[in-house]
Amino acid sequence: MDLRIRSFEDYQEKYKLSVTDPDQFWDEIGRSFQWNEPYDQVSKWEFETPDVKWYLNGKLNITENCLDRHLECKGDDCALIWEANNPTESAVHWTYQELYEKVCEFSNALKAQGVGKGDRVIIYMPMVPEASVAMLACARIGAVHSVVFAGFSANAISDRINDAQAKMVITADGLNRGAKQVPLKEVVDDALIHCYSIEKVIVFDCLGSNPNMEAGRDVWWHEAIDGMDKSCPAEPMDSEDVLFILYTSGSTGKPKGVVHTCGGYMVFAAYSFQNVFQYQEKDIYWCTADVGWITGHTYIVYGPLLSGATTMMFEGVPTYPDASRFWQICDKHQVNVFYTAPTAIRALMACGDEHVENHDLSSLKVLGTVGEPINEEAWRWYKERIGKGRCPIVDTWWQTETGGIMISGLGDLSPQRAAHAGYPLPGIQPVLLDQEGKEIKENGVEGYLCIKHPWPSILRTTYGDHERCKVTYFSHYKNHYFTGDGAKRDENGMYRIIGRVDDVINVSGHRFGTAEIENAINENRLVVESAVVGYPHHIKGQGIYAYVVCETMPSDLEKARAEILETVIEEIGKIAKPEKIQFVTGLPKTRSGKIMRRILRKVAEGEADKLGDVSTLLDPSVVDDIVAGAF
Ligand code: WTA
Repeated sequence: MDLRIRSFEDYQEKYKLSVTDPDQFWDEIGRSFQWNEPYDQVSKWEFETPDVKWYLNGKLNITENCLDRHLECKGDDCALIWEANNPTESAVHWTYQELYEKVCEFSNALKAQGVGKGDRVIIYMPMVPEASVAMLACARIGAVHSVVFAGFSANAISDRINDAQAKMVITADGLNRGAKQVPLKEVVDDALIHCYSIEKVIVFDCLGSNPNMEAGRDVWWHEAIDGMDKSCPAEPMDSEDVLFILYTSGSTGKPKGVVHTCGGYMVFAAYSFQNVFQYQEKDIYWCTADVGWITGHTYIVYGPLLSGATTMMFEGVPTYPDASRFWQICDKHQVNVFYTAPTAIRALMACGDEHVENHDLSSLKVLGTVGEPINEEAWRWYKERIGKGRCPIVDTWWQTETGGIMISGLGDLSPQRAAHAGYPLPGIQPVLLDQEGKEIKENGVEGYLCIKHPWPSILRTTYGDHERCKVTYFSHYKNHYFTGDGAKRDENGMYRIIGRVDDVINVSGHRFGTAEIENAINENRLVVESAVVGYPHHIKGQGIYAYVVCETMPSDLEKARAEILETVIEEIGKIAKPEKIQFVTGLPKTRSGKIMRRILRKVAEGEADKLGDVSTLLDPSVVDDIVAGAF
């Protein structure tokens, strides 16, 4: 199944067709997949409710497309390489045949433990190949997986379990991350105190650490698969049956469960993977993301496997045992396509070029980035130092909600410009809107980034709360999907993403809502209220700056800070820790009680001299205190 566009001219032609006749365009691509029953309509949609369906009445199982269909010709080809955290541990290589058998075996284990079609399963796993097996096994039997990044806290897990009303958790005793080990099973045990829907917990033995196992509830992975058959019929799924839920933060409330369905997601994952990376048969492809994020779902697991590619998973971190680890792995496995995040690039760049030298990077053909805007300096370093000026950089813009890459270069086919994501993929129709919601048609402009026509992997709903999906994405601008991002379009029509225009902070490519972090901080007994904003951070892209009001000013500020950080770690996880906590006597509020974040943002950005008009504030004097005490 080769879905690749061949040249920039080919791109332009396909793009035109995709706009004039989207259904014909997507039908041609859809036909390349294996359907148990063909679809009878390509798309049916309206953005009002919203109600979007793709490949209607088609029946399929995504794992038959990821695994079974490759067995005849590619059964002995490498499907998955796993590189351990410990550099002296040997890598794992699984062929398509082996991966197929492991997925089937675990599918049978899931069924034996009482999981069936439509049941929700939480996956809270280290970056081990069994995490991919767990996802695929759920998909094979029609269970809905919801992967929770293994850095989230017990409270964050229980929120997700309860929202999804999940029946099972798949986890491990713990994980290796650099020089540290994290006891995952303990975290799950804590989470389950507040959950009543969970019947079984399957535990993969990763560390040999002998965790607490609750009789009747907890089952070892190796015992669960013992004696299971290595083949398992794939559950026939409707195109619009749910494939997975992935929780992501928005500007309000708790994280919401973004819902993706089987048919459209499958088509777009493979199509975007092959085109953006210009993947060629036998290439070794490595995406450094974690399976806990959408990038791991679409571009470690589904996109590559649907395409019969060799996908690599890495257990560790870029700086362990030292800052040359990524380049050492590229050399060791002769990686051809490498996909990572700007924050990793900036962190490694700061460690010095000596870590890049002495590693053979000549196998690299395409380099990718994702998750946040990449600054020009990091872009150039990546291009010159890693790609040696030879490799195109694909700066891929997309979101959990879009399911796959929307705006990006296509390997070496497209023109490139530093820090610009570039042109939309054929089938994707981005527009820039102004304050009034009017489309800005010219080039050389800036506006709110929206999409005016659906694509197969657009989110279908937010789990259990369709209204929230409507309000968040489809109500800002009539008949448009609103991304929450601002963007520029240059003279040549290339897009450059500026960043979020809503109350979402992007820290090292991880999304957090300001309200979500404020709610966590407010749980601390010292705190009366708080306000959180993002500020530019040289490695993380954005850092979290928290303004905190306590009943009385704490006498020991350092101690109070540490206590608040602990609360945030408990409520969300270490990844959401504010970089800076400033204790203030009050927050700048309008007379109606609304917090003026604009002012707080300016102070956090070190631009206290550009606050603008503060006379409409209820108490303008708090601003002076805030400015005086700023970091
Ligand atoms: C940001 C990650 C600039 C953007 C796949 C988006 C980017 C949010 C880029 C989605 C990029 C992602 N350039 N910004 N190439 N890619 N973003 O859901 O603000 O974790 O809205 O999906 O990350 O984050 P999410």
